[in-house]
Amino acid sequence: MSKIAIFASGTGSNAIHIMDHFRNHTHTEIPLLVSNNPSAPVINKARSRDKEVYLINRESFYQTEDCLAVLQEKKIDLIVLAGFMWLIPEYLVRAYSNRMVNIHPALLPAYGGKGMYGMNVHKAVIANREMVSGITIHYVNEEYDRGEIIFQARCKIESHDTPESLSEKVQKLEHAYYATVIENLKN
Ligand code: GRF
Repeated sequence: MSKIAIFASGTGSNAIHIMDHFRNHTHTEIPLLVSNNPSAPVINKARSRDKEVYLINRESFYQTEDCLAVLQEKKIDLIVLAGFMWLIPEYLVRAYSNRMVNIHPALLPAYGGKGMYGMNVHKAVIANREMVSGITIHYVNEEYDRGEIIFQARCKIESHDTPESLSEKVQKLEHAYYATVIENLKN
């Protein structure tokens, strides 16, 4: 059985889609959610699905390797970032090299990097009058949004689209593809 830990900081719509996708799966289970935000809605949603929740704080995450110890103790094979807002420290990137993935709500390498998250991304895309946007699923390295790209999907932007309507289109793509792309990764 391969084991996934999901890292999420907020609403967790992707985290929950992925958990539900792998419910009763023959090869993969998701025993653990890691979060830096004790009041994130994703926490109760994960607990109601019988997931263990491991809460981190800045000090433990950046100055100790406690999180890695928890992941190793639980024999986690793959880390899935789903709206996790903190940069991953080097010790974790090294330990999970090619075994950690993220989803970004735009077509990287465009609209990535520091400050490019949530509605900031969609506002920038609309302000630049782009005609397409989409999602990027990629491996994680030490820099924001710069790891090897695994998968992209696109959506058209119409002249009447707003950052809000674009975010809905992009979220639909995220929910349609993230779990299956994870399922097809070779671990
Ligand atoms: C998604 O848009 C994802 O691309 C980005 O963070 C957002 C998380 O949304 N990395 P949710 O919490 O899964 O709803």
